[in-house]
Amino acid sequence: MKFFIDTANLDQIREGNDLGILDGVTTNPSLMAKEGIRGQEQILNHYKAICDIVDGDVSAEVIATDFEGIVSEGEHLAELHPQIVVKVPMIREGVKAIRYFTDKGIKTNCTLVFSAGQAILAAKAGATYVSPFIGRLDDISTNGIELIAQIVDIYRYYDFGTQVLAASIRHTMHILECAEAGADVVTCPLDPILGLLKHPLTDIGLAKFLADHNKK
Ligand code: G3P
Repeated sequence: MKFFIDTANLDQIREGNDLGILDGVTTNPSLMAKEGIRGQEQILNHYKAICDIVDGDVSAEVIATDFEGIVSEGEHLAELHPQIVVKVPMIREGVKAIRYFTDKGIKTNCTLVFSAGQAILAAKAGATYVSPFIGRLDDISTNGIELIAQIVDIYRYYDFGTQVLAASIRHTMHILECAEAGADVVTCPLDPILGLLKHPLTDIGLAKFLADHNKK
């Protein structure tokens, strides 16, 4: 299972990368705005800065919602750096654009996916990644993890090449449940990743080992 960090915060990306377990980064317009990154030039420079920190795929989301706009924005993003993956919303024009990018050899991440039907369309269009948002489904009393498992099953059955990238992860249990469901990738903020480190018996055991070592 690949680990992506879901943030546009460069310090957190560095911290995650320093752990040695990061395989990539996902961003979205809200995460960019949260860091105060605004305007075309600043946004493009920020993507380049992220690519310089991490080895691996970096999802950069288009703002356009019409086919021509998505294609022109996506091509521009893809030219920025070989690690860029064009993140495209699951809308009719987005599916058409994903097919266009696929045929051109440009990697894509189909975002805002909330159903297995949408995931099938993304795979048929040749998306590199499909991003089901599990936390946002949980928010409306719908089991996000069940959707991950359903998509994984369908993709395996038909041998689709699209990787299931579980997004909108809110806590460590989401990561574990995604692993059990067979997600190819989880993308999450730094805190749930660091949460995986924690176990009280580890802390108690280490304290005892060190105390025993230091006994005279
Ligand atoms: O990048 C998409 C995503 O992971 C959104 O997460 O917490 O805003 O639902 P969240």
